[in-house]
Amino acid sequence: MSQHSSRKKFLQKITAGIAGAALIPDILKANPGLYSEKGLQLKKYFSPNDTIQIGLIGAGGMGTADANTAITIPGVKLIAACDLYDGRLADAKKNYGNDIYTTRDYRELLQRKDIDAVIVGTPDHWHKDISVAAMNNKKSVYCEKPMVHDITEGADVVNAQNKNGVVFQVGSQGMSSLGNEKAKELLAAGAIGKLNYAEGFWARNSPEGAWQYRIPEDASEKTVDWKMFLNKYSDRPFDAKRFFRWRCYRDYGTGVSGDLFVHLFSSLHFITNSKGPQKIMAMGGLRYWKDGREVPDILLGMFDYPETAEHPPFNLSLRVNFVDGTGDNTYLRLVGSDGSMNVEWDKVTVYHNKSYAPVDDPLMATKLGKEMNSRYERKKMFEPDATVFKAENGYKGAHFDHFYNFFSAIREKRNVAEDALFGYRAAAPALLCNDSYFTEKPVRWDPVNLKLI
Ligand SMILES: NC(=O)c1ccc[n+]([C@@H]2O[C@H](COP(=O)([O-])OP(=O)(O)OC[C@H]3O[C@@H](n4cnc5c(N)ncnc54)[C@H](O)[C@@H]3O)[C@@H](O)[C@H]2O)c1
Repeated sequence: MSQHSSRKKFLQKITAGIAGAALIPDILKANPGLYSEKGLQLKKYFSPNDTIQIGLIGAGGMGTADANTAITIPGVKLIAACDLYDGRLADAKKNYGNDIYTTRDYRELLQRKDIDAVIVGTPDHWHKDISVAAMNNKKSVYCEKPMVHDITEGADVVNAQNKNGVVFQVGSQGMSSLGNEKAKELLAAGAIGKLNYAEGFWARNSPEGAWQYRIPEDASEKTVDWKMFLNKYSDRPFDAKRFFRWRCYRDYGTGVSGDLFVHLFSSLHFITNSKGPQKIMAMGGLRYWKDGREVPDILLGMFDYPETAEHPPFNLSLRVNFVDGTGDNTYLRLVGSDGSMNVEWDKVTVYHNKSYAPVDDPLMATKLGKEMNSRYERKKMFEPDATVFKAENGYKGAHFDHFYNFFSAIREKRNVAEDALFGYRAAAPALLCNDSYFTEKPVRWDPVNLKLI
């Protein structure tokens, strides 16, 4: 088969796969509203000139970054903030105006009729409860990744989204980037041939990068609602380290895989149209940041993606290293039979092998024989080794695009880039990676029916 016809066939297969992707798993069969226009029963329809009023729940690092991006979208106004640490509420007033409503209790914020949508920027162990409560109060929700803290929590979020017919977006912003879109288009067009492997990597080498955040001097049980922070997890005396460096503890965070792998899953699943891997294995260790944390600082994950209508079978390897002497560095790379591509949010680089002639390939041997017998060995035209697709100058970036997508879905009553089902499928392998690491066993997952096997 010529390379051209193999690419053409691959393209046809991919296109057929998109139609096949309409298969709806059990969790949706019960509530098919999500995929129908009727499903989005927003309490009011927003015209392009209406203001969407938002509340921020969890006004820390990412919540503030999210709110700052959200309010750059025309017609979006932040009118309330909720946090468990008074210092963050004071900062919110400084950032968004003295007149915004502030509270320590998210339930009070959710009662307000003048709030149309909320950003959930709390630690992971609060995502499910607050998102579900918000949707039950008919608020649209932008929830930070990973969508859930535990594999068992996903169905509640999907069901709340479907039942309430509100817009729900998970905050893996890379998904909405120009880079992800271009990679998806290039893969479908056969730019790297048949996908067989993907890999991703995150390297860090600093206390801040390894989650040793600064603890404010006034941190105490007076300035922090410690009991609320604990949620349903073990009661214990106030511990500022646990509160401000929550990522290090399993009750509140989801380790390096929930924090970082999840971004790579979101992008990869978007680019390949995949629902997820069926086998997950992880290994790693706590090598350097021995500050009482309960999770490894080096983690390797291996994932097996079965053949589906959407993509050929492939393997994925992901790594995080918080003790990497080369410092900050990250990548996502997809490898296929004809080349590879590195995917960044504003850039995609496609690499091609110049030539490859396996000696035991009979077709190639005949071709080489003919070439040797001919009098004139005409040279070939080579494609460039690397083709770079770069975003135009002034591109506002993935974060803006993801929020633009969220607010457009609210205004135009349509689906978002990363709804609850997608978010669950992106979070699941990241969470199961932790399970594999701690149990020292491979984990089997059914990504279509969302079940552990
Ligand atoms: N999309 C991204 O690129 C990205 C980047 C960083 C963090 N995140 C995600 O954002 C979330 C927050 O991370 P962060 O780095 O901003 O943490 P952070 O500690 O800086 O902020 C979390 C805030 O939530 C508050 N909080 C805790 N429980 C709360 C509750 N029940 N109600 C209200 N407020 C509560 C805390 O007081 C704190 O101010 C995490 O889920 C993380 O995974 C996403």
